[in-house]
Amino acid sequence: MRITVLTGAGISAESGLATFRASDGLWENHRIEDVATPEGFAADPVLVHRFYNMRRAAAAVAQPNAAHLALAKLAGLHDLTLVTQNVDDLHERADSPDVIHMHGSLTGALCADCGHRWPAPAVMAPDDPCPACTRPMTRPDIVWFGEMPYHMERIWAALEQADLFAAIGTSGNVYPAAGFAQHAARKGVDCVELNLDASANARDFRRRILGPASQTVPEWVASLAG
Ligand code: OAD
Repeated sequence: MRITVLTGAGISAESGLATFRASDGLWENHRIEDVATPEGFAADPVLVHRFYNMRRAAAAVAQPNAAHLALAKLAGLHDLTLVTQNVDDLHERADSPDVIHMHGSLTGALCADCGHRWPAPAVMAPDDPCPACTRPMTRPDIVWFGEMPYHMERIWAALEQADLFAAIGTSGNVYPAAGFAQHAARKGVDCVELNLDASANARDFRRRILGPASQTVPEWVASLAG
């Protein structure tokens, strides 16, 4: 079976990483415009690097949970395309092959001038020189609001060719990811949502499995094993 899975912050919540829209979510202490837009970065690159340095440090000590591990297992059972909005590397550390990071990754650095990419050091600073062009315009390789998410052609194709689409731990507030279920459903793809509570685009899913991802995802993967 061809399965496309989209994961969001909820899958990493039980690994101790804060979600975005919970009351203790990351945006509570920072305005989105300040830390997740090109304009915010231009206005205060020190603040933005400090924010992502903290998130990089938190992700580095977090451990994959049973939901990440179950999705790694799913890749061995079916033809899986795993897309994540998360910038942590918990899917990789759970041994999922070929994770599509549509919103970029904390493990990547990007030169805002020449576009060169390299592995991010644990602590980044605005005046770090680019290894390729030496200009001090380094930024986290993370997609900010107003920027185009990565790998979209591959993702739309995987959605259209899937037999099953599952969205796991995402609130359905941020497009284009929030439109994946509607797009897939229009192509006749069976769509299921696994979440703590119904997402903003719940109507686009034929089925819903509510509960913490560390329980629901392993059970769901087991149900697909036969
Ligand atoms: P949100 O914080 O908006 O939503 C997290 C979802 O996970 C909510 O629906 C929660 O109910 C659910 N949830 C929380 N704990 C859970 C658990 N233990 N098991 C299952 N579900 C749980 O996060 P995202 O939808 O991922 O974009 O946010 C999407 C994008 O918004 C992010 O990628 C980020 C942000 O702006 C960028 O940085 C570009």
